[in-house]
Amino acid sequence: MTGRLGRTLITRDEVAARVAELGQTIGRDYAGRSPLLVGVLKGAVVFTADLVRAIPLRASFDFMGVSSYGSRARSSGVVRLTSDLSVSIEGRDVIIVEDIIDSGRTIHYLRRNLATRHPKSLALCVLLDKVARREVEVPVDYVGFVIPNDFVVGYGLDHDGLYRNLPDISVLERTSDAMAAGEAR
Ligand code: IMP
Ligand code: MG
Repeated sequence: MTGRLGRTLITRDEVAARVAELGQTIGRDYAGRSPLLVGVLKGAVVFTADLVRAIPLRASFDFMGVSSYGSRARSSGVVRLTSDLSVSIEGRDVIIVEDIIDSGRTIHYLRRNLATRHPKSLALCVLLDKVARREVEVPVDYVGFVIPNDFVVGYGLDHDGLYRNLPDISVLERTSDAMAAGEAR
């Protein structure tokens, strides 16, 4: 264990209220259409599941897996597709659903990748945005919360595969071990 669960940043109730608002907004923006939500594995699974139920439209969802090369402390910026969609997005109104934007590299890659498949429209909905850490500019259409530069877990977000099942979003505090190893940014 290289981190310790710290203070709660966003409670489950705050998350639920914001997800409901996002669902209503998307419902208005896509009125009369059938958007396809593309969730990014695995972090956005929980958010996607809640968001799709908050959208009062004939919506559907699918998932895509990506991983970035490099150390955990610093992404190399090279993003690789690990699992592809099971449906064609040609002519579809696609909304990428992501848990968090940090440097912006993952979303930059995904946007470019999906754009080549000729969707009718392509938007991005992200639950958490660490604006201060942005290295690559990416247009974000829907944001749940702008958060400070803390490493957070819960509501789908993990550290070493753990904490995804926590209902609240909390800060993971680095232990001295973790800092020595340069982990858990
Ligand atoms: P980016 O490519 O630098 O924008 O990184 C985005 C990815 O890094 C997300 O999809 C997460 O998997 C991971 N990530 C970034 N910050 C956090 C965090 O605070 N907690 C958990 N995962 C994070
Ligand atoms: Mg992720």
